[in-house]
Amino acid sequence: MQHRQLAPFAPDFLWGASTSAYQVEGAFDADGKGPSVQDARTTFPEGTTDYKVAADHYHRYAQDVELFAELGLTAYRFSVAWTRIVPDGDGEVNREGLAFYHRLIDALLERGIEPVLTMYHFDLPQALQQKGGWGSRATVEAFTRYARILFEEFGSKVRYWLTINEQNMMILHGAAIGTAGDVAAGDTKGLQRALYQQNHHMMLAQAETMRLCHELVPGGKIGPAPNISVVYPASPRPEDILAAEDFNAIRNWLYLDMACRGGYNPTAWTWLTEKGIAPEIAEGDLEILGSGRPDFLALNYYATATVAAPLAGEDVGAVEGADQQLAVGEDGVFRSVRNEHLPVNAFGWEIDPVGFRTTLRVVYDRYRLPLLVTENGLGAFDTLEADGSVHDAYRIEYLAAHIGQMRAAVSDGVEMLGYCPWSAIDLISTHQGVRKRYGFVYVDRDEFDLKELKRYRKDSFFWYQQLIKSGGTEVTAA
Ligand code: BG6
Repeated sequence: MQHRQLAPFAPDFLWGASTSAYQVEGAFDADGKGPSVQDARTTFPEGTTDYKVAADHYHRYAQDVELFAELGLTAYRFSVAWTRIVPDGDGEVNREGLAFYHRLIDALLERGIEPVLTMYHFDLPQALQQKGGWGSRATVEAFTRYARILFEEFGSKVRYWLTINEQNMMILHGAAIGTAGDVAAGDTKGLQRALYQQNHHMMLAQAETMRLCHELVPGGKIGPAPNISVVYPASPRPEDILAAEDFNAIRNWLYLDMACRGGYNPTAWTWLTEKGIAPEIAEGDLEILGSGRPDFLALNYYATATVAAPLAGEDVGAVEGADQQLAVGEDGVFRSVRNEHLPVNAFGWEIDPVGFRTTLRVVYDRYRLPLLVTENGLGAFDTLEADGSVHDAYRIEYLAAHIGQMRAAVSDGVEMLGYCPWSAIDLISTHQGVRKRYGFVYVDRDEFDLKELKRYRKDSFFWYQQLIKSGGTEVTAA
């Protein structure tokens, strides 16, 4: 649909940016913090850094918040490291960890920046992982207890809460992200069965947490934060369209149906049971799953996926091993294909702004809840010039195109709460080191040479600043 005139963004639309604790904070063992699964990782892809220092935001948060204020952010989406608050996941509470997030949140509020708090972003406490991680029901209890601590501690300051970041990517791509733990070593079917049991437990934890938020935080709003993008069929062939519907159910609706409707998506459930990888559902689980409801849906969007129906008996490739945007295949269900209509970035991820509009529309049509974009952005190799500038016209082009399509979605009738691109500041990518940068602010360090970790404003910083000032109307490319 072409609009004769585009609708404006609402005056209270949240113009934000995002980070996650383990990718930005560093200070991996400071002030009583316990190790997370990311700290316990012993291998990293060759030539890439670990997360020990990251962007050192833990020590430099005050300076960073100043930069966010100068950028004009009205929201900042960050995650709390569970291991700073409860170092072993289910034991003693660490007051120093709480104090850090109070300082951060207070600094944001003083500058009129709305804190958007993610409770868990890929960094499960290692002590819980050693006791079975999400495969164990005890982790549901540990998470709910941790959530209660956060609500009681920060409930008077934080209005927007996110439960679990990209639960679907932890299930579909946990090995690349570093969250799969030992199950990654099993056979494919055993691995998938274990992962979908973990998934079921995370769903329970999420439902309990959403219910608890409404009980403990007056006026608090909470939602899930999966990675959602519509799946295209490779052709108008009916079999390809069915394959796309199947992957849509497995990749997207399984997660959102559960969060919003409290039950398993029927197509996804049929696939799970037929394949023999369905989770065990204990007595009372369905009541718990039905008892939590989100107030909004957060979603991370990078690009669409495209799939075809597999040929009879075709081996479609590994179910694990690819990353968040490089899709997997499922024997007898779908095979991923490259979409020739879309360009790719330097890391092979397709770029699809129109798919962003379609995704927002489809999700809003299905669930009729306001949407908050909690990630979207371009990972690229940036160059710091001798004069301290960083010319990232490619990032401006990417963001301008996506914001333009988001405005078209608003004009289509989608209710949008805000936009928090990835990332506010350079941080460490999930498996491609610091060289894959996303930030508006450049952090001067290499993979193994930390230099001084000085901050520099990129061209995209000044561009986003202007855009926010204009209320999102000045969506011009570089
Ligand atoms: C999302 C994650 O999957 O994508 C982030 O929530 C991640 O943690 C982002 O950093 C970009 O992915 P990557 O692999 O380029 O860091």
